[in-house]
Amino acid sequence: MIGNLNHVAIAVPDLDVAVATYRDTLGANVGAPQDEPDHGVTVVFITLPNTKIELLYPLGENSPIAGFLEKNPSGGIHHICYEVADIEAARDKLVASGARVLGDIKIGAHGKPVVFLHPKDFNGTLVELEQI
Ligand code: CO
Repeated sequence: MIGNLNHVAIAVPDLDVAVATYRDTLGANVGAPQDEPDHGVTVVFITLPNTKIELLYPLGENSPIAGFLEKNPSGGIHHICYEVADIEAARDKLVASGARVLGDIKIGAHGKPVVFLHPKDFNGTLVELEQI
């Protein structure tokens, strides 16, 4: 059901430092910061030959990653995103197999439908599915 790894999202406590680390130390292709007010984050996309890294930094009062950074003050992997061909079919299959789906299918930061799966059902990893 799942296809390519679309991205790994890393929550960071200092976006400028993280950008410098990926651009200058690791020599990656780092994009410009993009505010995503609907998602409560500022995102920097890093394009690798085979996938993407997304740096996530809190935006606004109720950012969904503020609590994560409180628990992980130096940052950390927040979620991983797998591609699926049909997100509704994937969601229905997961629900039928007892996995916990977090909320409804929404339009994600790339303008495509996404849904999140509970980390307790996936080895402690928050999983995002994105329809490609
Ligand atoms: Co994501």
